[in-house]
This record gives sequence, structure tokens and C-alpha cells, in this order.
Amino acid sequence: MTDLLDTIKAVWNDKDDEAYRQDQSHWRGVGRWANDAAWQSIGALTLDRFKFLWRILERAPSAMRDLSVLEWGQGGGSNVFGLREVASQYQGVDISPKNLQEAGRMISAEGYTGLFKPVLLEGPPEEIADKLLPIDMFLSTAVFQHFPSKDYGVQVLKTIRKACKPDAAGVIQIRFDNGNPTFSGIKSVEEYAERHIVANSYAIDAFWDILASCGFKPLAVDGIRTQNNYATFYMTAK
Ligand SMILES: C[S@@+](CC[C@H](N)C(=O)[O-])C[C@H]1O[C@@H](n2cnc3c(N)ncnc32)[C@H](O)[C@@H]1O
Repeated sequence: MTDLLDTIKAVWNDKDDEAYRQDQSHWRGVGRWANDAAWQSIGALTLDRFKFLWRILERAPSAMRDLSVLEWGQGGGSNVFGLREVASQYQGVDISPKNLQEAGRMISAEGYTGLFKPVLLEGPPEEIADKLLPIDMFLSTAVFQHFPSKDYGVQVLKTIRKACKPDAAGVIQIRFDNGNPTFSGIKSVEEYAERHIVANSYAIDAFWDILASCGFKPLAVDGIRTQNNYATFYMTAK
């Protein structure tokens, strides 16, 4: 696992091209995200998605507050920013100390000191299960496609599930596999450095079943985009 973690970290924390790394990690003000409206739109879309989920669950909009949130792979914190008003604590799980530090810095600079709780992943996903605080809301956007294998994503889902309170609800974005070779994923970890942007994908029906097998109740899927094979799943803890 150390080798695997080192391979992932070489891209997301230790890459020599720091400008590329920060842009890929969605740091506010860097590269594509010098356009602050574009950066803020990531978190705004995520908030809209949670409002949609709350409607599916027939929960009052006013019930979306004081929530314990967990994001897997928060990067520079675009979703931390988007969800700052509904969260009372926000755990970010990431393999990059630099990205954890930046998310904390960014949201503290906005006046939300103490909101962000960094959780550094230093081994297999399940190893942090005991360190996580119980959660009401969970999310992962633009991260599952960077996992080194389908099974790694299953381990992440099981770890998130363990932290869920009984009424927890969440949103997970993946790249889907529809036979397009661009998005079919890597065959071995040796390809990771080269193909980390499109390392992992799932058929939509397969991911629905995986969610169920990991203890979630999948409720809906939307945001299907054939330009980049993104799809967004909505779920509760069963
Ligand atoms: C493209 S950024 C996404 C940031 C944010 N979720 C968003 O949508 O703007 C990917 C993030 O996932 C993190 N990451 C990559 N592999 C990871 C892993 N195995 N576990 C946790 N985080 C990971 C990276 O360090 C980076 O912070």
C-alpha cells in the first residue's frame, strides 16, 4: 500500500509542476480558477445538488443547517466554500497535506475559522475509519475518477458508510464507463502518473449496485455528461 499511496501522492502532493498540481486540485485563484466565478460555481452546483437531494427526501430546506459534513478529496476547498453556511463541521479527507492546508487556509480567510477539520489519509482508505467524526452529509466530486482501481473506490465508500449517522445523505460524482476507451480506466497502477485524470470509472448500473452493496440506498443519478463521462449519484445510508 505504501507504494500505491506514494504513486497517488506523487501526482497530488509531490508533483514538481506546482502550478499544474494546484490547478488540478481546484485551488482558488490558480490557473483555470483565476476566474473566481468559475471556482465558486463548483461549490454552488454542489449546494444545488444537496437541495435537490433534500427535496427527494422531503426534508425542509431549513433542516439543511448545522450539519457534520465529510468530503473525500476536498482539494482547494471549492465545496467547503459552497457548503460553509450549512456545515457546523467539515471534515476533508485527502492524501495531500498541501491540499488540506489550502482548504483550511481558504475557508479561515473567509471568516470560518475552525470549520474545516483536515483528515490526512496515510494508508488504505479503511485505516482512517476510526478517526472520522459521525456525519450527516457526505460528498465526493471530481475524485473517484482519480482512484487507482474500482476496488479502491469500494473501500472509500465502505469507509464513508462507517462514519454515517442513521439519517446521513450524500452525493458522489464518478466518471462512467460506457465503452468509450478514453474513460475506461487504467489497467495497472504503472499507468497512474500518465493517466490519473481518467484512472477509474464504473458502468452506471454497476455503481448503483456497488452503492447498495456498501450499505447505501441509491436514490437517483443525474448530471450525465458524455463530453467527460461524469455522472452524479444521490443516496442515503440504509
Ligand atoms: C480534482 S480535485 C477535486 C477537488 C474538489 N472535490 C472539487 O470538486 O473541486 C481532486 C482531489 O482529490 C484528492 N485525492 C486524490 N486521490 C485521493 C485519494 N485516494 N484519497 C483522498 N483524496 C484524494 C486530491 O489530492 C485532490 O485534493
